[in-house]
Amino acid sequence: MSDRTISAKTRLCGVIGDPIEHTMSPAIHNAAFIQTGLDYVYIPFHVKEKELGKAIDGMRALNVRGLNVTLPHKVTIIPFLDELDSLAEKIGAVNTVTNDEGILKGSNTDASGFLQALLERGIEPKGKKVIVLGAGGASRAISFILAERGAHLVILNRRLERAVELAGRLLTTFSKEVRALKLIAENLTWALEEADILINTTSMGMSPNISETPVPSNLLRSGLTVSDIVYNPIKTRLLREAEEAGAETISGVDMFVWQGALSFERWTGVKAPIKLMRDEVIKELQAHEK
Ligand code: ATR
Repeated sequence: MSDRTISAKTRLCGVIGDPIEHTMSPAIHNAAFIQTGLDYVYIPFHVKEKELGKAIDGMRALNVRGLNVTLPHKVTIIPFLDELDSLAEKIGAVNTVTNDEGILKGSNTDASGFLQALLERGIEPKGKKVIVLGAGGASRAISFILAERGAHLVILNRRLERAVELAGRLLTTFSKEVRALKLIAENLTWALEEADILINTTSMGMSPNISETPVPSNLLRSGLTVSDIVYNPIKTRLLREAEEAGAETISGVDMFVWQGALSFERWTGVKAPIKLMRDEVIKELQAHEK
């Protein structure tokens, strides 16, 4: 953050959430703005649920160029926006708002960022059998984009009814059969036999519960791609055991970096410096892990 001056021309971006103090988004976006020589600055804003409407009015009044949206606002922000892209509309959640000359447009780069993290590694989910663990907000974004891309999904969740509900929405939206199962070892064994890709969207294994894993290690094997959206720790127990079993692994860092990169590109029209953004996230996470 060395030689940057703020002037009347500087454009403002930021992130809104509650809580917000642990966000890594300012670090990656400000580093990217400096590296690309863009006259932008990125600030975290602590916005409580009841202040969300006023915050969005403020975005309009102050001509803020872009906002990332994190918990708990990803769904409740929708009525305050002017337009949604088709993916955000289908998912029913927004993590990126772009102010195009007073028109606030919502998009979901959590979903497109996840897909990009797969594609970057040469993994095309179209036609593949994909196991998704979890049925919360993160699962919803990921499941929608994978279904749209033509993957065959099996969703497993601790509370079966949430998996059934999500599968039902996917069926209504894409007219595609999606299986919903309870997250227990027996179902995992069966589902994993023919799977190509396994994605953990649950919070199992997240710091401080680093000894947790959603999948018994004996079910992991080579030929499987294992992706974990948990990025704290950088290498979860699931990813470590997947690697030991010879599976290909994709860490939660990649999804986080790509969602940020795609937001950056929407706001600036400039290609995001992915490597720098990834280095920045790893630096932040390693500082926290110490
Ligand atoms: P997010 O929006 O980040 O996905 P969420 O809606 O709270 O967060 O969802 C968290 C997911 O992790 C859910 O699928 C949850 O399972 P339930 O729907 O049954 O609650 C899953 N999860 C969290 N802790 C878990 C645990 N110890 N074992 C199994 N699943 C767990």
